[in-house]
Amino acid sequence: MEAQFEELIESFITGKVGQSGTFINQQLSAALVQNIMAHKERGVLKTAGIGSATQHTHATSIRSDKTLWLKEDTDNDAEKEFLDIIARFIAYLNRTCYTGINACEFHYTLYEPGAFYARHKDQFRNNNSRKFSMINYLNDNWMAADGGQLIIYHDDRDAQHILPENGKTVFFQSDALDHEVAVAHRPRMSITGWLKKV
Ligand code: OGA
Ligand code: MN
Repeated sequence: MEAQFEELIESFITGKVGQSGTFINQQLSAALVQNIMAHKERGVLKTAGIGSATQHTHATSIRSDKTLWLKEDTDNDAEKEFLDIIARFIAYLNRTCYTGINACEFHYTLYEPGAFYARHKDQFRNNNSRKFSMINYLNDNWMAADGGQLIIYHDDRDAQHILPENGKTVFFQSDALDHEVAVAHRPRMSITGWLKKV
């Protein structure tokens, strides 16, 4: 995995938005998609909130994705494999960039057709523990016509439009960049999370 870790960190340093096209392998991605479908069937994916625990509101005019938090002590093999990759990435990042990350949180995310997330930043106003945002996409054969692009805004250049393609991971500083998710025209799945200092 070190090549992917390097790729993500190098592109982050050069352009503020790290990307690796091969962070989550096909087999793991397929297993995580199965989990999302099972959670959807069971009705445990919930309309996402905005704001931190003390200021939690549902605002479907701002976002309409559905989420479910991963548990640190999960006994699901795919989740264990995913969280193990994240733990190794955090160790690599701390060792090479002195970032001091000591916690993380990740949720499954499903955008059903028509869902979106309006322009926002990822750090809460009353809590700055989220240092880096990381989104891992799980969608086979995503086409531009499927919508659902991650749009990232920059002060010094044009906005970036990123397709949520299977295996791709995006990594950026949580307090730095405004971004949004364009309306998805087919189900759009990911595992989204934050590397934190608590
Ligand atoms: C988020 C977010 C982007 C994406 O969940 O905060 O900005 O591409 N997600 O899913
Ligand atoms: Mn965000």
